[in-house]
Amino acid sequence: MNYKLTIAEKIAKATELNVDDVQKLIEIPPKPEMGDFAFPCFQLAKVFRKAPNIIAQELSEKIDKEGLEKVETVGGYLNFFVDKASFSKGVIEKVLTEKESYGHSSIGEGKTVTIDFSSPNIAKPFHVGHLCSTAIGNSLYKILSSQGYNCVGINHLGDWGTQFGKLIAAYERWVDEEALEKEPIKELLRIYVKFHDEAEKDPSLEDIARQHFKNLEDGCEKEVKLWQKIKDVSLMEFNRIYDMLNIKFDSYAGESFYNDKMDAVVEELKEKNLLVESKGAQVVNLDEYNMPPCIILKADGASIYATRDLAAAIYRKKTYDFYKNIYVVGMDQSLHFKQVFTTLKLMGYDWADNCVHVGFGLVKFADKKLSTRKGDVIFLEDLLNEGIARAKQAIEEKNPSLENKDEVAKRLVLVQ
Ligand code: ARG
Repeated sequence: MNYKLTIAEKIAKATELNVDDVQKLIEIPPKPEMGDFAFPCFQLAKVFRKAPNIIAQELSEKIDKEGLEKVETVGGYLNFFVDKASFSKGVIEKVLTEKESYGHSSIGEGKTVTIDFSSPNIAKPFHVGHLCSTAIGNSLYKILSSQGYNCVGINHLGDWGTQFGKLIAAYERWVDEEALEKEPIKELLRIYVKFHDEAEKDPSLEDIARQHFKNLEDGCEKEVKLWQKIKDVSLMEFNRIYDMLNIKFDSYAGESFYNDKMDAVVEELKEKNLLVESKGAQVVNLDEYNMPPCIILKADGASIYATRDLAAAIYRKKTYDFYKNIYVVGMDQSLHFKQVFTTLKLMGYDWADNCVHVGFGLVKFADKKLSTRKGDVIFLEDLLNEGIARAKQAIEEKNPSLENKDEVAKRLVLVQ
């Protein structure tokens, strides 16, 4: 029910004013004690040749109170209090009759929205920050779908980048195949952490890792095979979590998907005179926008995260012709997205304005940011299981006679 309209109709009836004009004047009071809607009578003083508080007083007596708890006058204002019981009844009745389609609309019909969410990194744990992105992204997907938008859920997997050179170097030296079989992400994390420890003592390992990544970019068989294996075992773990949360994606085109699409982006940037050299790297200067440059190619010629995001945005526009292109990623990446969107705009793509970063706060524990490199992580599965255990404990205390405690605890945490 549109209360604003209903109240405007009541006022219009009592004053013989036009409903649209009345509606424009209705305000939402700054405090709930002042009611749900307010009608200022000041502008009517001239029309009725009376003081605003008198007009408010007279109106309050005349007005039809059906559906309202009360109408109060405060100075020249008429404050309306909606009857919450009848409002709730109305909502519940509507939900019961309209069922699944309650709240649906078709405002988005014919428009596609791409939603990049979850997007964990291969060989690294699916952490609580990814859980935020997964939950927010999936909710946006459902909300926008309910409004008629055609949604495309994209899991932009972090499956490319120099860290794979490090992982391959670490894999060749230290992997324990048995442990990898049992708990792949834990083992991959262990060798990744070990790589950083060892590279501190022996920096030449960094060069070896760089070479491995270069080989991977060039499609060398050994590197591609190892990378595929790392990707497969990681995805198996991630899918367990998605199954647990009942979440699906329409596309798993991750960073590696853009490997063969980045040269074209670099060429285009060159053609448009946007690339400049800085300390051996190729960058887009963003001084004018008060931002550090957007790095496109590192000094060794390797592409980076931003290059892949440029290629991905262009690909998404071509493939889906999106109306909005949404990224659900932590706030710590807001500069990255600003740089990417600004670069797209500089390339002449006006649709860059339709790219949106939906950020959320940094997930911190005991005042420290989680750093995978230091092995400083909380595994999401452990976190969810801990949540379920605590929910069950609370049920044991508060409702010991409940029959299906396990089931209820699980539903509470996983919102199923
Ligand atoms: N893999 C990234 C991370 O875990 C998030 C990717 C978000 N999406 C994107 N198109 N950059 O931090």
